Amino acid sequence: MTLSWGRKYLMCPPKHFGVLYEINPWMHRSIEVTPDDAQQQWHDLVSNLEAAGAELEFMEPAVEWPDLVFTANAGLVSGSQFIPSRFRHPERQGETPLNIEWFASNGFTITELPDDIVNEGAGDALPFKDVLVSGWRWRSDERSHPLVSDLLNVQVNSIDLVDPRLYHLDLTFCPLSDRRAIIAPLGWNPAGRAMIDALVPEPLVLDDEEALAFCANSVLVDTTLVMPSCSSRVGRQLEAWGYDVVVSPVNEFLKAGGGCRCLTLALDVTLGSVA
Ligand code: ARG
Repeated sequence: MTLSWGRKYLMCPPKHFGVLYEINPWMHRSIEVTPDDAQQQWHDLVSNLEAAGAELEFMEPAVEWPDLVFTANAGLVSGSQFIPSRFRHPERQGETPLNIEWFASNGFTITELPDDIVNEGAGDALPFKDVLVSGWRWRSDERSHPLVSDLLNVQVNSIDLVDPRLYHLDLTFCPLSDRRAIIAPLGWNPAGRAMIDALVPEPLVLDDEEALAFCANSVLVDTTLVMPSCSSRVGRQLEAWGYDVVVSPVNEFLKAGGGCRCLTLALDVTLGSVA
């Protein structure tokens, strides 16, 4: 009914957050972020995650890197192993040394991907049962998947993300248990949909409007699902399954193309045993 992971997260305060460049279809420099609102929404998210029982760790914000708040993209965690992201866009590439520094000084072993490979970490990879579902196209290279599979000793199921608005896997897929996940097929091709249908016995399928409101970009802590938005239909299904729904609005971060999940990185994932 829930997950064996997802009780411990890394976050980064939005002190220097803003939309200072445009690297996904949601970002427009002309739409200003209101810093006080961003701070408030982020602190509310922290409170909601803690109230759900999550333990949180925080890394230092850095003035040059406004998207560092999206810690889901720091890299991939398995046990005490950490694979730092190699970002597609130069606008985020400077985050990698900061992420390496945090994980190295917190007891993780760092394993780096070759430097001609692009992979954006947990934003593009979520465990489901004993498999790591991994998205590619906009931000991660498909050829990073066999490398990740070898390094972390886990089966990787690749999925082609076909809609540029849903450019990371975590905008289309949210595991809830070893049987259930919220899914947004709008972001996938038929082969990807078939792979997920074979893997997930009980999917909660989002319609396009729900998908584009980032309903799937949610964080499950035990039986509480912290969501950027939730339609009444989706809320009813989740409650019928026994989950408590907490909507934690993050509208300032949606301006950068990120929601609740993007603002967190699970630290308690051990791949290969992730039911
Ligand atoms: N502005 C950020 C970017 O384009 C948003 C990252 C969202 N992260 C995520 N895990 N979906 O990279």
